[in-house]
Amino acid sequence: MVRETAVTVDDLVYPLFIYHGKDLRREIPSMPGQFQLSLDRMGEVVDEAVALKIPAFLLFGIPAEKDAVGSAASQDRGIVQEAIRLIKKRSPETLIITDVCFCEYTDHGHCGPLHEVGGRIDVHNDATLPLLAEQAVSHARAGADVVAPSGMMDGMVAAIRDGLDSAGFAHIPILSYAAKFASAYYGPFRDAAESAPAFGDRRTYQMDPANGDEAIREVALDLAEGADMVMVKPGLAFMDIIRRVKEKFTVPVAVYNVSGEYAMVKAAAQRGWIDERRIVMETMLGFKRAGADMILTYHALDVARWLQGG
Ligand code: PBG
Ligand code: ZN
Repeated sequence: MVRETAVTVDDLVYPLFIYHGKDLRREIPSMPGQFQLSLDRMGEVVDEAVALKIPAFLLFGIPAEKDAVGSAASQDRGIVQEAIRLIKKRSPETLIITDVCFCEYTDHGHCGPLHEVGGRIDVHNDATLPLLAEQAVSHARAGADVVAPSGMMDGMVAAIRDGLDSAGFAHIPILSYAAKFASAYYGPFRDAAESAPAFGDRRTYQMDPANGDEAIREVALDLAEGADMVMVKPGLAFMDIIRRVKEKFTVPVAVYNVSGEYAMVKAAAQRGWIDERRIVMETMLGFKRAGADMILTYHALDVARWLQGG
């Protein structure tokens, strides 16, 4: 009766890696229990999550062809677009959130096309904006319910909002990865999504973990541009940011319990060094207590099972 905080299955979003090709269910070595799934094998996992009443998926696509501008990202027959249609056919009620970015689609692994500034190669922020709008519209056209731009480009939310509105998708909300830090915790994800930058890093567009105030400014900017919900990422090392965002703004706050956080728990659990179930549930409670309204986590299937007494 006096517990303040609860975790429920409605809090969970389950990320999926949809991989080109056929008959593929390949376990990601640094993420035991998570898979690269081809379109024809994705259904097994989708059905499992739906049976556990997980309300939403976050989709990532890994295409066969990558190029300098990531053109495979915005094709109507692209990998994520096809995945959306298949999931909607299987389970119309399940919410589909799509990650909107280019790092899985560019041959250089950066989150947008490149240009040279002052003798240095970097992402071309402003050239990325119309491409992000185009990608978001193609996701919405395929049936996505929410689009989640993750590239930390300045102006991305406004550009996507304009693009969606003028294509007839004014009703599609934007979940912005607003407070996304340049983090070593994304390592296993980059193996899973084959999206490690071929050179350099993402520190010119993602945030310095030392800067909490800047995260608040980034969130304010994204909300001013029209974001409906905001994300803090990673989770564990940034619990204070979740709390600050929750207290300062009145929009839903998502936390991304990222790949490196998952990998650490799995590695220790496999050695019998920790009690996985208790550790994971304690972490989920921590996110909720910090102020998160939803949790994107690779533990989603297990958490749902444990909540249902499994
Ligand atoms: C792509 C993206 C990343 C993650 C989600 N979207 C990786 C990155 O920025 O390199 C990380 C998710 C995770 O680590 O689980 N922009
Ligand atoms: Zn990216």
